[in-house]
Amino acid sequence: MNPAKPSTGTAAAAISGVVVERDPARMRAAVLAAQRGGRRVGFVPTMGALHAGHGSLVAQALARCDDVVASVFVNPSQFGPTEDFSRYPRPFAADCALLASQGVRWVFAPETESLYPAGHATAVVVTGPAEPFEGMLRPGHFSGVATVVCRLFLAVPADVALFGAKDWQQTLVVRRMVRDLGLPIEIEVCPTVRESDGLALSSRNAYLSPADRQRAVALHESLCQAAALWGAGQDVTAIEAAMRHILEQRGVSIDYAAVVDRDTLATQIPPGSPAVALVAGRLGTTRLIDNQELPPRPRPPG
Ligand code: PAF
Repeated sequence: MNPAKPSTGTAAAAISGVVVERDPARMRAAVLAAQRGGRRVGFVPTMGALHAGHGSLVAQALARCDDVVASVFVNPSQFGPTEDFSRYPRPFAADCALLASQGVRWVFAPETESLYPAGHATAVVVTGPAEPFEGMLRPGHFSGVATVVCRLFLAVPADVALFGAKDWQQTLVVRRMVRDLGLPIEIEVCPTVRESDGLALSSRNAYLSPADRQRAVALHESLCQAAALWGAGQDVTAIEAAMRHILEQRGVSIDYAAVVDRDTLATQIPPGSPAVALVAGRLGTTRLIDNQELPPRPRPPG
């Protein structure tokens, strides 16, 4: 247990100037009380190791709501056995200080056992948008995400939850779960925040060596090229080949580089529908993902 955090049995504590709540039932009661008082509550779920992308989600939540809750929980069930769960950065006090400085009212930082009680036997499984891409390459990942997000929404019954567009497929999975289960929460997807050279902010960027950090810009470059070629009317096969070429030139080991339907991730994009370019690749031991929305193209005449 992180000694900077109060334990579940004790009342919420103030850490770095923000109220840290560890207990799901007490968290839920606090949000419901605020809402009974007429306050609109926004929720930003995170795994911590916060950066300006999270900061932007919090800022947008604060602009739309009276109170904001951010959760900090490194969710074990969304990591595969060979993934980076144990080394995932956990700078909890710094995260709390950042959230406090932004005006977040509560940090929800549950113990693993309070979200996953001993002997738990329940998981949320989303099919459809959860199946291709990350779903194929990271079996169980989206079930882990859907399960924890559902559990977090029970503890934080906010009016609106905000997610970053960088994890595009995740946003589709969360939206589908909320729709299918009728969960009473709005989902808002906010734009990706980028470094000045275009690299999308991610907690995993911290793993990159200086040389890999330079090469990582290839993901954004491949997406810019996809947008340009899409706008010029190129077919999807040619766009995907151009994306792969850029990534290969920079030595990115490609997991996928694809242009698909924006809302279903289907490879067939109906004429006049929006698309999305998706990219995932590895630099050394670091795996990065990114995407670019592509606006609908005019339907061919006739
Ligand atoms: O995007 C993330 O940081 C995580 O997948 C989330 C939504 C907080 C669930 O653990």
